[in-house]
Amino acid sequence: MRTVLVLNGPNLSRLGSREPDVYGTATIDDLASACAGTAAELGLSVDFRQTDDEAELLAWVHEAADRRMPIVLNPAAFTHYSYALRDALAMRTAPLVEVHLSNPAAREAFRHTSVVAAVADGTVAGFGFLSYQLALRAVAALIAGR
Ligand code: DQA
Repeated sequence: MRTVLVLNGPNLSRLGSREPDVYGTATIDDLASACAGTAAELGLSVDFRQTDDEAELLAWVHEAADRRMPIVLNPAAFTHYSYALRDALAMRTAPLVEVHLSNPAAREAFRHTSVVAAVADGTVAGFGFLSYQLALRAVAALIAGR
């Protein structure tokens, strides 16, 4: 069974209490469960991780490249300025889908730029947990097509 790395950047551990009007009241554990459920339907497994540390996130992206693992990534605020993350993702060896719970295009101007979008297969944003579930479906389709 193929394993998809579901990687989450800074502040996403705070889901449930973080700006609930924007991100909802469900927790990151709820999100991990939703991802595991969708992955099981697709015949995939997920390795779900979160970090506030850019270096740790880069190490996970390097690990994915070495192990040819697909990634569903919510880079959180790193989306908007981390060229180091973008460069790490450019080394990928398997599908990559960028996800966001909210719709950054409908929020503050600084969120309108994603420095990682150009190295991803695609982006799903604005649908809460469904963004991740749709991204897992996209990964499954990309794997099947390769
Ligand atoms: C986010 C959107 C980003 O702009 C923000 O910095 C986040 C979460 C989202 O999932 O909607 O931390 O990636």
